[in-house]
Amino acid sequence: LSRRSLLVGGAAGTAALGAGTWAIARGLDSAQQPTADPVPQTYAEQTVPFHGTHQPGVTTLPAQAHATFVALDLRDGVDRAQAVRMLRLLTDNTSRLMAGHRPLASEDVELAARPARLTVTVGFGAGLFDAAGLGRHCPVVVRHFPSFATDRLQPAWSGGDVVLQVCSDEPTTVSFATRWLVRDARPFAKVRWAQRGFTQARGTEQDGTTMRNVMGMRDGSANPSPQTGLDDAVWNTGPGWLTGGSMLVLRRIAIDVEAWDDFGREGRQLAIGRTLDAGAPLTGGAEHDAIDPTKTDQHGLPVLQPSAHAVRAQARSPAERMLRRGYNYDDGPGPDGRPQSGLLFAAYQADAETAFIPVQHRLATLDALNLWTTHIGSVAVAVPPGCPPGEYLGQGLLDG
Ligand code: HEM
Repeated sequence: LSRRSLLVGGAAGTAALGAGTWAIARGLDSAQQPTADPVPQTYAEQTVPFHGTHQPGVTTLPAQAHATFVALDLRDGVDRAQAVRMLRLLTDNTSRLMAGHRPLASEDVELAARPARLTVTVGFGAGLFDAAGLGRHCPVVVRHFPSFATDRLQPAWSGGDVVLQVCSDEPTTVSFATRWLVRDARPFAKVRWAQRGFTQARGTEQDGTTMRNVMGMRDGSANPSPQTGLDDAVWNTGPGWLTGGSMLVLRRIAIDVEAWDDFGREGRQLAIGRTLDAGAPLTGGAEHDAIDPTKTDQHGLPVLQPSAHAVRAQARSPAERMLRRGYNYDDGPGPDGRPQSGLLFAAYQADAETAFIPVQHRLATLDALNLWTTHIGSVAVAVPPGCPPGEYLGQGLLDG
């Protein structure tokens, strides 16, 4: 029933209505009566601007509910001119899709018309620099990403010359955008891996509520916010072509959720250093307050375990700060009936050398969460700055 048929009445309309509904509909005076069927208010039409100083999808918060990460490997023989053509296509497709328009080669206006805050974020691995003859401009940490004692990395989830992060509150849109981006990149590159993730569906919590991971914890509580130095933490300040860009480290971390399910709540909270319900520090305060690793109880014993994840991960200098923008993954039960889920740990930072690397070295040495978590995939990429109108993504590097 449309709102109009409800107001105008008619046999079919009235028969289908409860008496109360009908009374409410009739109670509208003429000034309140809509002149046309009202358009439902949805998140579908919401857009994020593409052009700007920085790429979208980094400080686009709250993080959209769905994400697909795709790693591409350039085909043999792709040179700088071809890499530029690929990036021009990628830029054109992205700017159209994010605005709710179809890519040039697509006829699907309907699928494109529901961007739901679609963002596409592009990062470059060492292979892109080398193909373009610009190897010397690749950050050392991207080319020589170290390994860690607890790594169990699988090639199927690791590496890549170009990484795309496609996020939207609408999963069909993520699917549509990803397929066109990859389709137009295919003459130049082949897919190395793709990974899909999710956070809470938009509307199920107040916007801005920290997501819960598959372990049930609020994950992201201590993240830098615009009020606490977000820009300084994520945007590279140069010198060089990466100024205004960032670095993305994506780790696929498998979690033994069944073992976690069987572990008592008190032990779980000690393992994190925060409460499971509100995500508040065990040392007191509210969710977004910092933990206090030095706090002791009435017996003089530390409140937090030295191995608690938050104690080990807490930044020990401003340079260690990063924005964690993680997504859950769940590939459904495996053939043995056990869950195959975990975290797509995505962290943006001004410089991974001073942020992710020292923090992960600490965690690999000691972290209570290591009992349940295993890093099975890894990629680090340089995220070029934003794209002014008329330019293409990465132009500052490739034309520089
Ligand atoms: C599956 C693996 C992981 C899970 C489930 C996890 C979960 C959490 C949780 C629940 C918190 C406390 C709430 C919050 O501040 O977000 C936290 C904090 C944090 N995690 Fe992780 N984390 C994981 C891996 C990592 C990795 C690999 C790193 C970086 C190398 C990391 C860095 C941090 C940082 C920097 C904090 C904030 C600490 C603070 O300042 O209090 N985490 N994590």
